[in-house]
Amino acid sequence: MGLRNFKVWRGDAAGGELKDYQVDVNEGEVVLDVIHRLQATQEPDLACRWNCKAGKCGSCSMEINGMPRLGCMTRMSTFEEAETVTVTPLRAFPVIRDLVTDVSFNYTKARETPAFAPPAGVAPGDYRMQQIDVERSQEFRKCIECFLCQNTCHVVRDHEENKPAFSGPRFFIRAAELDMHPLDAKTDRKEYAQSAMGLGMCNITKCCTEVCPEHIKITDNAIIPMKERVVDRRYDPLVWLGRKIFRRDQLEEGTAVSSTLHTGETGSVDGAAPVNWHRGIPVAQSASVDDEGKLPLNEVLSDRTGASSPFGDDVTFPVDPKGLNYYHPGK
Ligand code: SF4
Ligand code: SF4
Ligand code: FES
Repeated sequence: MGLRNFKVWRGDAAGGELKDYQVDVNEGEVVLDVIHRLQATQEPDLACRWNCKAGKCGSCSMEINGMPRLGCMTRMSTFEEAETVTVTPLRAFPVIRDLVTDVSFNYTKARETPAFAPPAGVAPGDYRMQQIDVERSQEFRKCIECFLCQNTCHVVRDHEENKPAFSGPRFFIRAAELDMHPLDAKTDRKEYAQSAMGLGMCNITKCCTEVCPEHIKITDNAIIPMKERVVDRRYDPLVWLGRKIFRRDQLEEGTAVSSTLHTGETGSVDGAAPVNWHRGIPVAQSASVDDEGKLPLNEVLSDRTGASSPFGDDVTFPVDPKGLNYYHPGK
């Protein structure tokens, strides 16, 4: 393919600029190959994160011609021969150096997300799920934690101030996965997503879905169902009336009953022997989570309420993704 033109952002937290390079490109190569050749031949101190070169570790996330993408999955053949390919770091996270950003925001949010709550009275190893339930959450388990969706979401991309109150699409799919999990004993996943994870700040533009390299339907299959269930619980007039008529403890009792029915008392998997959900031996629960089901992290303040929508009530949906600015401010 010969020599091709590139602009690569060089700099650190104090500032930086796009630098011009000409690099040899061979047939079949991806952008990460070019970055490696640039390191090997011209810029040995160019910083770039990568591990698998197979689209599976999620570490080579970068912005290529303004689009958040995996460097190892972006073929050079997708660009015109005369086109200059611009490579910049993820914009939503602070730059450490060159193409490497500090993505610890995501690890903080991961720790804040309540972990799987095992059902009481069922020993690990005795958990049983129907195949249809496995398949429902399998899509979300494909996530490689590349954080391209987090980087793309306009709620935090241009609004640093929203970060404390917004967990982002990657963690909405985690909440949805656990909400759909038949054995998860925590029944308020959607309420938690709404009140503590900032689900209400998402205005379903689907930009996160557009950039997901695993083609997870983040918005259609996780966010929208969660939003619908929140609406059902909060605004359905029958549920509202029920709350007025019944005492809280009666409602909680009802929730417990439906949750028992959900998991099945003596469930069986098509033709297999029935599973005894109530073994006589008490089962130790995981000690790794605190009383609220969160992984402990002393330095993180996680008890905050969600902020109200920064978009107000007058937004026309859906917001056109083409109107969103994907370009790095340094360009
Ligand atoms: S649908 Fe849009 S607003 Fe909602 S999480 Fe995805 S990118 Fe963010
Ligand atoms: S949901 Fe998709 S885009 Fe988001 S972190 Fe997971 S794999 Fe990446
Ligand atoms: S190097 Fe692992 S996803 Fe690109």
